Amino acid sequence: MTSVPTNEESSLSQEIERRRTFAIISHPDAGKTTLTEKLLLYGGAIHLAGSIKARKAARYATSDWMEIERQRGISVTSSALAFEFENHTLNILDTPGHKDFSEDTFRTLEAVDSVVMLLDGAKGIEPQTLKLFEVARMRSLPILTFINKVDREGVDPFNLLSDIERTLDISALPFDWPIGSGNRFRGLWDLGRQEVHLYESVDHGGAKAVDRRLLANDPAVEPILAELPDREGFMDEIALLSHEESSFDRKKFLSGRMTPVFFGSALNNFGVELFLRAFLDMAPPPRAYHSDKGPIAPDHPAFSGFVFKIQANMDPQHRDRFAFIRVCSGRFQREMCVTNATTGKTLRLSKTIQFLGQKRERVEEAWPGDIIGLHDPGVFRIGDTLCEKGVFHFEGIPSFSPELFGRVVLEDPLKRKHLKKGLDQLSEEGAIQVFQLDPHGERDMIVGAVGALQLEVLKFRLEHEYNVKARLEPVGYDRARWMTGNAEQIQAISGTLDTLLVYDRELKPVALFRNEWALRYVVEKYPKVAFHGTSPRAFHEEKE
Ligand code: G4P
Repeated sequence: MTSVPTNEESSLSQEIERRRTFAIISHPDAGKTTLTEKLLLYGGAIHLAGSIKARKAARYATSDWMEIERQRGISVTSSALAFEFENHTLNILDTPGHKDFSEDTFRTLEAVDSVVMLLDGAKGIEPQTLKLFEVARMRSLPILTFINKVDREGVDPFNLLSDIERTLDISALPFDWPIGSGNRFRGLWDLGRQEVHLYESVDHGGAKAVDRRLLANDPAVEPILAELPDREGFMDEIALLSHEESSFDRKKFLSGRMTPVFFGSALNNFGVELFLRAFLDMAPPPRAYHSDKGPIAPDHPAFSGFVFKIQANMDPQHRDRFAFIRVCSGRFQREMCVTNATTGKTLRLSKTIQFLGQKRERVEEAWPGDIIGLHDPGVFRIGDTLCEKGVFHFEGIPSFSPELFGRVVLEDPLKRKHLKKGLDQLSEEGAIQVFQLDPHGERDMIVGAVGALQLEVLKFRLEHEYNVKARLEPVGYDRARWMTGNAEQIQAISGTLDTLLVYDRELKPVALFRNEWALRYVVEKYPKVAFHGTSPRAFHEEKE
């Protein structure tokens, strides 16, 4: 007898099916804010173009962001935005770029099911895109590519495709193709549907979609093609690319080895809808997560989730802290009781929030793929697993190799205990990484961060929250590798030039290197040691 799903089971599977949780990865200025804003417009989540820009400016004025954020008008931590489009719920997780690039940016990618790689058409792959791409690749996340600013001069679509393929070692398959570029940009050719979307530049901020859609063989298309400098050549390209478009390999896409490519102009809201619809079609719904009890599928009936981000001091008056949870399975309901698998403690989840920019809303219910913020009186750590029934642990969130290191020097040596407490708590929160020179932690501490701002935030918070004045002295290292394997060889590394042996919070051995050359030398010299760019996970180890 086949069992009939209960109402609860079928609503769980429907909610999973309609969710898409993703992040946009890009280099600063590629147009992430503009694209996010346009996507939100489709969902009706905001009604005016410019709201996100307004949010950028409003940061100065809002009281509940850290002072350092207000002083500088930047966001130290990232947030998640939810919107509805055509019976789908989309969750966009913000990956801050600019100077606020930090480990949070990397950790966000642990909580998504797919990634949109956004490129500036005139620039191609830029350094920050590459860094984030590597993390997405490590997690085998599916990647869709949006090439922005086709309305600008200097966009060569073939060069861009080969740049993606060469630099990232991924197959790039276009789904639409620009007709002309810069001043002569006339629209997009949808290679699958054989439709032409005609472009008009807009002066209303792109609040509405503007493209006129025609079948490729519509007589109105001909005069546009006739204007092209090489009509024949263009039609040959279309014939070739249309043929290739059918070679889309979903399996390769889902494992991050093939990326569908779309062109457009976020500013002019052109090509965005075409992309959004394709995204809903292609991007996968919430995935299963690995745990020590095997994979936990999203339709596992009991609620589970993990903490991927802790945001502290949003309100300095109240020392507020929020833990952000990615829902992995089951249905979340406010006031439910769960076990924090890491501490073994039972908690009632009452103070819940969801963010739309600065606006907070209480969350009564959430489903796999959703992000909820929980008020955290200091009980959560990055990577904690929350379970409604049974106890299991999701694979830990790894630490990523910092690129900036500093030795912490106390201005008042009597404050050593305060300093230790501050560093412990801030590293638990994932704000920085702390390394010690000996396993007993008797000697100096070295702190590491992915972005410069993290170190500034550290000094600021030590002073304001822990009453400790400290300096950070440069130490000259610029990369870290976690080590596993032969213990004798690991110890021997301490005597190597331009290399420093330290220990992380869990006392795992880590080597710091002054440069790429020192790293290569050590890797060759100590073959019995495996070097990892991220801290080895609890259950899977990534080898370099
Ligand atoms: P980011 O979040 O990735 O850093 O980029 P953001 O959206 O802030 O965009 C960076 C700049 O690129 C902005 O110009 C934005 O208007 C422009 N831009 C975004 N999409 C397109 C596009 O499709 N075509 C063209 N031509 N420009 C685009 P800005 O001058 O720095 O800011 P603003 O004064 O326009 O706000």
